[in-house]
Amino acid sequence: MFKVNDNYLKLPGSYLFSTIAKKVSAYQAEHPDQSIIRLGIGDVTQPLAPAIIEALHSAVDEMADAATFKGYAPDLGYEFLRNAIAEHDYHELGCEIAADEIFVSDGAKCDSGNIQEIFSTDNKIAVCDPVYPVYIDTNVMAGRTGTYDPDREVWSDVIYMPCTEANGFVPELPKETPDLIYLCFPNNPTGSAITKAQLQEWVDYANRVGAVIIYDAAYEAYISEEGIPHTIFECEGARTCAIELRSFSKKAGFTGTRLGYTVIPKDLKSGDVTLHSLWARRHGTKYNGAPYIVQRAGEAVYSPEGKAQLEKQIAYYMKNAKVIKEGLAEAGYSVSGGVNAPYIWLKAPGRMTSWEFFDYLLERANVVGTPGSGFGPSGEGYFRLTAFGTYENTVAAIERIKAI
Ligand code: MLT
Repeated sequence: MFKVNDNYLKLPGSYLFSTIAKKVSAYQAEHPDQSIIRLGIGDVTQPLAPAIIEALHSAVDEMADAATFKGYAPDLGYEFLRNAIAEHDYHELGCEIAADEIFVSDGAKCDSGNIQEIFSTDNKIAVCDPVYPVYIDTNVMAGRTGTYDPDREVWSDVIYMPCTEANGFVPELPKETPDLIYLCFPNNPTGSAITKAQLQEWVDYANRVGAVIIYDAAYEAYISEEGIPHTIFECEGARTCAIELRSFSKKAGFTGTRLGYTVIPKDLKSGDVTLHSLWARRHGTKYNGAPYIVQRAGEAVYSPEGKAQLEKQIAYYMKNAKVIKEGLAEAGYSVSGGVNAPYIWLKAPGRMTSWEFFDYLLERANVVGTPGSGFGPSGEGYFRLTAFGTYENTVAAIERIKAI
């Protein structure tokens, strides 16, 4: 008789964004005349930039001709894309990352969920609280998190690192020593950023205690201030303790096209075993590569035209962030984020819980956001809005919120 992986049964509820989608659909079905503005999930709304569309068209044409047709992609990604990434995302910043330390994939969500597979199930993870739920849920599925306390909404074997107003939403070094540390900066969900000096402390700490930092830099393209690192490899010593996850979703609008990559330096070892070799083995066994046409589209992100067009696209979303942040501040809300990240983190008014505020906004303003408590216990009483809507919808949403 077969048995299921009963770690899955420990997971409370459904995935955060699926729960929200279900709630919103149910509300819309009951109120078909109301026009709902969705600023919940961080999904982009602007079309792919012209340089990317051109690259896609031309790659599609190649697939129509036997002389240029492509079958399986190389396991770890096409050289043309890995070289472009190494040059533009690392060498231009003075970071020493080789093209063969870059693993191209179909997105950072999958990589952030799958990366835990190359570590022992005995490893103890440390996460920011609040946190992107994928890091925890995938460790639950692997059996690494112990038991769930539904009252406190925490797992017994996870080290939670509170990110609060008091610490500027940047965690302090944990008292208990972790094996794996998940950091995401610019941060999802709080929209906070970490300075290079702060990140250097984490790198030094990880090297000192023998931990690995899994650094999710999916939102780095939104950094607008000086002194904020675009990659953990700007820090000295990161090659021996860090893995970096990157995404084309938010940087270039690929949420529906799917492309990302993971960097594992060859200097990152457990004894004689490189994590690079384990991830390469996993990739080769379980993955057949992102589609050729999508990798060509990814290459266009780094062309001069692509870069200029994407700069405008990011400015468009960051204008939304400003509208949200300033509008809510004027209305008396306490807000943070939105300067180096496309997320605005606000305090629910009065003593409302995050989910009470979710219902209140949905019912009174027909605006959807994400309840902070869905990201962890320290998110209770907070709420996240995304800047990825259209400008018109963003302005309308803030007007509606101000009016209630
Ligand atoms: C979010 O809204 O947190 C993100 O869009 C989720 C994701 O990138 O998977």
